[in-house]
Amino acid sequence: MNNRLPLYVYEWLWILPSTAIPAAMIVAMLLSAFAMGIQVPGVAGRVDPLALDATPPFDKPGLRELAPGRYEAVMVALTWTFTPNEIRVPRGSTVTFTVTSRDVIHGFMIPNTPINFMVLPGQIARQTTRFDAPGQYLILCHEYCGIGHHLMFAKVIVE
Ligand code: CUA
Repeated sequence: MNNRLPLYVYEWLWILPSTAIPAAMIVAMLLSAFAMGIQVPGVAGRVDPLALDATPPFDKPGLRELAPGRYEAVMVALTWTFTPNEIRVPRGSTVTFTVTSRDVIHGFMIPNTPINFMVLPGQIARQTTRFDAPGQYLILCHEYCGIGHHLMFAKVIVE
């Protein structure tokens, strides 16, 4: 007549998933941070958005070679473009993007890389990645910044 399982079985059926799910989330977080190199970029510095033309390195945006195979790309976001709009690096290069905004909040994302941050006026964002596969990588603005938002992109060409 009474063929129900003992109560503790039902308790375990709740307890196990409710500990396994957060444990799996912690494992996923550790894997993405340490195995895949995805990290939340911090504030790399402050800058006066109205004085960018007189503030190094943003007075001369562009690509500079720091060491063989290591580059810094200094970029300025402005509705609705990035300056420079295209950078070229050899394959296997490690590129540090140093970016700020001249006007409103923009985004900076390169699909299939860990590069993904917001670009705020007054704030410097910096993130580094390595480009092993040759090809063309799009830099996308992924924060809505006005009527031309969907047209705002730049390119990394890995030769
Ligand atoms: Cu810049 Cu959207």
